[in-house]
This record gives sequence, C-alpha cells and structure tokens, in this order.
Amino acid sequence: MKDELTLFSDSGENDSYQLKQKFYMQQFANRFLELEGTGVLILDSEFRIVEISEMICTIFGCDRMSMVEKPVEECFELLSLKPPPFDRTLLDGITFRNRLLNWTLHNHTHELMLDGEVLEYNGVIAGAFILFRDVSHLIMLEEQIRRSDRLKTIGQIAAGTAHEIRNPLTAIKGFMQLLSKTLAERDMSKEQEYVGIVLSEIERVNDLVSDFLLLSKPKKMKRMAIRIDVVLQEILPIIRNEAHLHNVIIQYYPNQESLPILVDKELLKQVFLNLGKNAIEAMEGGGTLIIREQSQPDQAGKIAVEISDTGMGIPASELEKVFDPFFTTKPQGTGLGLSVCQRIVHDLGGSIEVASDKNGSRFTVRLPYQRRDME
Ligand SMILES: Nc1ncnc2c1ncn2[C@@H]1O[C@H](COP(=O)(O)OP(=O)(O)O)[C@@H](O)[C@H]1O
Ligand SMILES: [Mg+2]
Repeated sequence: MKDELTLFSDSGENDSYQLKQKFYMQQFANRFLELEGTGVLILDSEFRIVEISEMICTIFGCDRMSMVEKPVEECFELLSLKPPPFDRTLLDGITFRNRLLNWTLHNHTHELMLDGEVLEYNGVIAGAFILFRDVSHLIMLEEQIRRSDRLKTIGQIAAGTAHEIRNPLTAIKGFMQLLSKTLAERDMSKEQEYVGIVLSEIERVNDLVSDFLLLSKPKKMKRMAIRIDVVLQEILPIIRNEAHLHNVIIQYYPNQESLPILVDKELLKQVFLNLGKNAIEAMEGGGTLIIREQSQPDQAGKIAVEISDTGMGIPASELEKVFDPFFTTKPQGTGLGLSVCQRIVHDLGGSIEVASDKNGSRFTVRLPYQRRDME
C-alpha cells in the first residue's frame, strides 16, 4: 500500500491524482462488496449480472460464481423470487427508490430496501445497479415504537375510565350479595341463581378493570429478592385446580439452586397465572402443561422459565399479535392477559417470547437475577 501511494506522488500531478483516485475507488468497491448491511448488484446492458455482493449471496443463499454472467431474471427464477423485485424497465431509465422486499431463508426473514439506478456511458444507458439495504432492525424498532405508543394511548384511556367503572361496580356487587342472602332466606332459588350469574359477570368486569389498571400505570413495585421456584410454588395449587377441571396434567421442573431475582412477587404471580391459564385454555380436551425453570442464567444474566403446552398452537400469522392489547381468539377473551404479562415482565427488566407450532406453544419468561453486587 505504501509503495503504491509513493507511486502516485512520483508521477505528474494530474496523473497522480487519477491513479490515486482509481486506487481508492477500487479499494472502496472491493470493501463495499463485502459489507454486511448493504449490498449491490451490478448489471450490464443485457441485464446480466456483472457483480454481486457477499451480502446478497448470503441473504439469498446463493453462490456468486453461479450467478455472474447470468441474466438476472434467470437468477430470480432459480431463487423462486416471485414476483421479481424489478425488471428490465430499469434499463429504460425507470429507476426506483426504497422498494421493499421481504425475503425468508431458513426461517429468518429479512426486510430489504432496494434502490435501482442506471449506469451511463457516453450518454447511453450501459447497465444498472441495485442497492440492497437490510432494514429488518429498523422495521422491528418501528414496530416496537408503534406498540409502545399503542400501549400508552390505551393506558391513558384506561386510567381515565377504570376507576370510574370500579367504584359503582363495588356498590353493585355489595348490594347483589345482600340480595342473594335475602333470596336464600326466602328460598327463592331460581332468583338466587340469577343473582349468582350477575355476581360472576361483575367479577369478570372487575378482572378486566384490574388488567386495565395494570396496563395503564405500572403499580408501584414492591421488589424483593426471591427465588422463582418460591413464586411458582405459591400459584401451583391454583393452576393445578384449574388443570384438573380441564383434564390437563401439570409437570413442574423446579430449579432449587436457582438464584434469587429482584421482583414484585404479586405481579410475577399474575404473569405465571395468566400464562398457565392461557395454556390450559389452549388444550381443549386435555393435555400437558410443562413449567420448567432453566438451571443456568444466560449470557445476559437472565433466568428463564418456560411454560409449554400441548395445545392447538398459534398460527404464524397470529404469533406477532398475541401480545397486542385486545387481541383475542376466544369468545369470552379480553385479549389483555398477555399484554399485561409483557408489561409486568418489561417493568421487571425482563423479556417474554413465544414459540409455537401445531404441537403446542412455549412462552419463555426471562428475568434478571439479582447479582451479588446488587444486594
Ligand atoms: N398457550 C397458548 N396457546 C395458544 N394460543 C394462545 C396461548 N396463549 C395465548 N394464545 C393466543 O393469544 C391470544 C391472547 O391471549 P391473552 O392476551 O391472554 O388474551 P385472552 O386469553 O383473553 O384471549 C389468545 O386469545 C390466543 O389466541
Ligand atoms: Mg388470557
């Protein structure tokens, strides 16, 4: 490199600049072709591939040598890329910007943004190039922002109305309980049954309002250092009871050596209750619910708990929506359970993810364990 640079200064001033420029442009082109986040496809006037970046080869799972010199349509064909992301009109000067292309290889989806430009020689279009940018992370970020915006709006509405609903509800519930007692004393069993229904419906509205309140404003957390198995042991009787009613077998694999986590126990109990309830509800006709604590914290210092079921699973198209407030596939569902779980887990500095296929679903909750230096 040094020799080549000295060479520039030895020649005439203009020549030297041109040589230098050629050298740097060449280095730039070579380096550009190796970049991971950006790729380029260079085409000649016959729409044949002259050069193709490593990035494009990796994302599309193709080999550079089998692509060069081929008309680009042939390559689309080989990759079953339908519809083609661009066509020969590019050579007529019809360029494009920010064209989105969604491509999945080995279960990994890339959101690509394409720009198509022409290359001219002596005023004639002599070829074209297409820039590929991998914008998957930006799109994910955008989705996260949208989601938290949505949660914020719902939170504001919820905060305004939830209390207003809860107060009269408490009064209605109290009087209904009184009425129920009076009806019992007068042996009016039919009427008592009706009041029972009213009471259980009030309970449902009450639960909904509680979820609303949780979503709207995180409660003041009462954090304490506690092991996850201790939290789980407290709610297992409730889950077991529910499971028993639905022919579901529970398998619990605790990790007694697990490290303590710094959490609000009551809120965390609600997370596992919601996940357990969903799992049981997904197994109509029975199944197995497995609760497993991972024994070692991961690299990020988080402890994972998996809640898996042998239920009907979640279709891929719905997988992204299950955490959305109000998304439900159940006639009696509120669609708030998982958004409340996500809210609580996030507030605790953890994360929650889902994997699902036709054999069932698995929700993984990761929570930061309490490091010694935090005690
Ligand atoms: N374990 C599971 N198996 C299958 N589908 C699930 C499971 N957990 C959640 N879901 C899906 O996610 C939706 C949202 O769940 P959730 O937020 O708890 O609301 P809800 O239970 O009131 O419907 C459910 O309606 C269901 O379609
Ligand atoms: Mg639910």
